[in-house]
Amino acid sequence: MKFSKALKFKKLVTFIPNKKEPIHNWYYFKEGFSKNLVDIFINQFKLNKNSVVLDPFCGVGTTLLACKQKRIKSFGFDVSPFFVFVSKVKTRNYDLNELKELISEVVKWKFERPKELPKEKFIRKVFSRYTLEDVIFYKNKILEIKNEKARDFLLLALIDSAIKASWTIKDGAVIRINKKGKPPLKKFFKYKVKKMFKDLKRSNIKSIPVFVEVGDARKLNYLEDNSIDAVITSPPYLNKIEYTKIYNIETSLFFDFPRTELRSHIGSRVGDVDVSDLDLDNNLPLSAKAYFKDMNLTLNEIYRVCKDNAKLAVVIGGGCYPDRVVEADKLIAKLAERIGFKIKKILVARNSWCTRARTIKVGKIRESIILLEK
Ligand SMILES: C[S@@+](CC[C@H](N)C(=O)[O-])C[C@H]1O[C@@H](n2cnc3c(N)ncnc32)[C@H](O)[C@@H]1O
Repeated sequence: MKFSKALKFKKLVTFIPNKKEPIHNWYYFKEGFSKNLVDIFINQFKLNKNSVVLDPFCGVGTTLLACKQKRIKSFGFDVSPFFVFVSKVKTRNYDLNELKELISEVVKWKFERPKELPKEKFIRKVFSRYTLEDVIFYKNKILEIKNEKARDFLLLALIDSAIKASWTIKDGAVIRINKKGKPPLKKFFKYKVKKMFKDLKRSNIKSIPVFVEVGDARKLNYLEDNSIDAVITSPPYLNKIEYTKIYNIETSLFFDFPRTELRSHIGSRVGDVDVSDLDLDNNLPLSAKAYFKDMNLTLNEIYRVCKDNAKLAVVIGGGCYPDRVVEADKLIAKLAERIGFKIKKILVARNSWCTRARTIKVGKIRESIILLEK
């Protein structure tokens, strides 16, 4: 397998560069990658306005929006209804005149104390009473809006503002609380709404179709065989954070989504599975075996929907276990090759130490971009 050091990707495999990118920065998603990374592969794969791109793990829609900005059609799926909501708001086409009129009303809304506040303890713990009252006041007003696109646009602005006005700090897989004074929610909210509108006005993106829906990467029901020119994606990392928990505030405060089945997440099957049929080692940790089984199903589906010669860039990190490191890039590339993909290259974006008990070094893990071709 051809590994090559590609340190220029070190930052680009993270969400950090998106903080400066209009629209991409409407909602901060620590597990995302950057628009610039997608741009590099759009160029390298020579994609153009006749191409169709897929991201079966679309998260907050970085691939989809980057494609739209280059006038390229795309499909995106994610198992989380909340991330799909964020992706939709960021990739929709808006009627700017209508939105402008609405925003001029919104900034004049006069606060009224809501009759009821959420009862959940964890919600009460992360907001001051005043902030929570503001959040619920704005939420109730926004939910009265009939126009779905405008309503969702304002709701995303409110969600982002509520998190900023809360006492939470997302720290890896946990939410920490720091009860320091914060500016009032309405300040964050009005600023955010105006900024989002400005981004849209400046972006001047034509109406490029972006199809994004809740879906499972292991069964891409919406897509026909041989219909995709390129896949730019990043599956959940092996043995990494449980996504649903750290977005609990966003999902439970603003939506009544049905709880996403844990089993629909990659690698979350319960019990032991046999991976010898995939030519993998049955001594791998149980969670790794479940993960590679699911990744194999996903790669099969991707193979089905890709056209011949389709190009793939798959961003993936290694697995860190107390007794060993699992080279996810190598094993996923191996699975892809068994299915029929050609491995072009594995770009190593960064190396880090896998440690146990915080200090004991177990081994080095790679974060890589696997380049494949059908
Ligand atoms: C590393 S993140 C992708 C981030 C994305 N590249 C971005 O920039 O926003 C992996 C995503 O896979 C999603 N996911 C997990 N299991 C899935 C499944 N079975 N089908 C589709 N999406 C899934 C998670 O909800 C998460 O959003």
